[in-house]
Amino acid sequence: MAISNLSKIDEARNHVDRLNSAARSADQLMEGIAMLLNQHLLKYNWVGFYMLEPGANPPVLVLGHFQGAMTPHTRIPLNEGICGAAASTGKTVVVDDVKTDPRYLACSLETKSEIVVPVFVNGQVAGELDIDSHFAAAFTPEDRALVEYCAELVGKRLEEAASSH
Ligand code: SME
Repeated sequence: MAISNLSKIDEARNHVDRLNSAARSADQLMEGIAMLLNQHLLKYNWVGFYMLEPGANPPVLVLGHFQGAMTPHTRIPLNEGICGAAASTGKTVVVDDVKTDPRYLACSLETKSEIVVPVFVNGQVAGELDIDSHFAAAFTPEDRALVEYCAELVGKRLEEAASSH
């Protein structure tokens, strides 16, 4: 039976909601989201979080929970990469063909497209959710909405943790 991309996305959103209810911390939620998106959506070949290092000056993104092959980019300054662009502008970046984007930092030779969505905590960028695909233009508006939803849930959990300290 053919399963449309959209229904896989709807399914993934339901799984993410369940994960969010079950997760005891933002950290567990990030670990679970990386695993779930990588396993459930076949074009999401590398899924990971980069978080801003607290107190770092100049600011730097540090690799957190991820699923997929190890990347050489474990620390990314904000003036580098698609990751740096998303964190420094606070805007989602979707790149349909990474070969044509001069900002792109290669993680795997197989990567063809990428999406990076900032995670906000109390209105400030705290990190981001980065997804690479072996397929060109893998990230449709529906994918973008799902990834932004995941980033929002993580931001809310981080906000709750920050306000309870
Ligand atoms: N491609 C990213 C670097 C991170 S790896 O994809 C995991 C970038 O251009 O910032």
